[in-house]
Amino acid sequence: MEDLAPRPGDLEPVETASRDELCALQLERLKWSLSHAYENVPFFRERFDAKGVHPSDLKTLSDLSRFPFTAKSDLRDHYPFGLFAVPRDKIVRIHASSGTTGKPTVVGYTANDIEMWANLVARSIRASGGRAGDIIHVAYGYGLFTGGLGAHYGAEKLGCTVIPVSGGMTERQVTLIQDFKPRIIMVTPSYLLSILDEFRRQGIDPRESTLAVGVFGAEPWTNSMRLEIEQAFDMHAVDIYGLSEILGPGVANECVETKDGLHIWEDHFYPEIIDPETGEVLPDGEIGELVFTTLTKEGLPMIRYRTRDLTRLLPGTARSMRRMEKVTGRSDDMIILRGVNVFPTQIEEQILKCEGLSPHFQIELKKTDRLDVMTVHVEALPGAASEDQRAGSTKELAHHIKSVVGVSAAINVTEPGAVERSVGKAKRVVDKRPKN
Ligand code: DLL
Repeated sequence: MEDLAPRPGDLEPVETASRDELCALQLERLKWSLSHAYENVPFFRERFDAKGVHPSDLKTLSDLSRFPFTAKSDLRDHYPFGLFAVPRDKIVRIHASSGTTGKPTVVGYTANDIEMWANLVARSIRASGGRAGDIIHVAYGYGLFTGGLGAHYGAEKLGCTVIPVSGGMTERQVTLIQDFKPRIIMVTPSYLLSILDEFRRQGIDPRESTLAVGVFGAEPWTNSMRLEIEQAFDMHAVDIYGLSEILGPGVANECVETKDGLHIWEDHFYPEIIDPETGEVLPDGEIGELVFTTLTKEGLPMIRYRTRDLTRLLPGTARSMRRMEKVTGRSDDMIILRGVNVFPTQIEEQILKCEGLSPHFQIELKKTDRLDVMTVHVEALPGAASEDQRAGSTKELAHHIKSVVGVSAAINVTEPGAVERSVGKAKRVVDKRPKN
């Protein structure tokens, strides 16, 4: 694979600023953002007042811990536009994330917000090894989901040629990659696996494709999956993180030269890690729930937004901005099986250790005789689907899950193609337990 480390002059000055310079910038911007929210959004004013805090109480960055949290339910309660901080006619774009239940979460952007977003996605693509002149195949969904348009504007901003394919029509994805010869692909890692299958189905070696970099996000994926993808395509696989409530893609991104977690673009977002139970701020290095405060957003400022994503903060490496470790999962996706906490990413890691198994899997939860039972449905690889081979893989996976994750799981190794595919975020857990 190509060495894609940035050359001198490639980076924006703020990416190599000292911690002191960065903190000074954050403090100034944080003061602005708190005042902006307080002055213009009745919800934030009421919340701050109820907690007895005022934006002027923020003297240092750590004073932020005195301010109240914001949750997804607050956005839902003010559906659709109730948390916007500018008149509606200053909002130039709306996105929404499809909640599995209830109303979607609606977010709005001013023209300046869109500009900032495009700049941060451009920075993210550059950190991933992209540069002006590249052809970029965008297979994130276009529409209310922030993935497609977010990637699109950033790629254009960097000076790339964008192919706005969106998700779906997998056969055509392969044709377009073969014909247009993109250097970069932006897509969810699970949908990339479907594209990979399609390459093989058509008898085309994915390693011969022009793809040199994949920018993957919108769902958790492991370092084992990174290796799998990098070997299959002979390309760099880099992680991009974001969420609509804070921005969309481009809140944090890995650097291709280190691939050691995602640098948070701290000039625009202030991260905290909290204990999800007590809400107490944890020191850097400890795992907890990620919380973000926007520093420059005009349309929808967010103060201490609880992401539900679990990770920890680490010092900067390739950039001076801090890193977040690859997200283990959302607290909502955590399965508690007879007292043991299990994330789908842990199951993914064990599957990828088994030679005869493909990375397509889904976890089913059921209740039998009052006990929770977890079944992992996973596809055999096309060359390893005989009855004997599947029986061997079943044993092997059950053993890995028991010895590493610490739970007993029923394993169902299926024929290739039997596990549900998605064209965007994969649905990893199907919970069939009765709701109480
Ligand atoms: O998924 C934005 C996005 C689009 C990010 C494309 C990256 C690429 P939402 O639909 O609002 O926004 O979902 C946000 O997805 O809180 C995480 O739980 C999860 N997520 C996003 N990126 C990653 C990642 C977009 N790199 C939610 N690793 C977040 C793990 C991720 N989880």
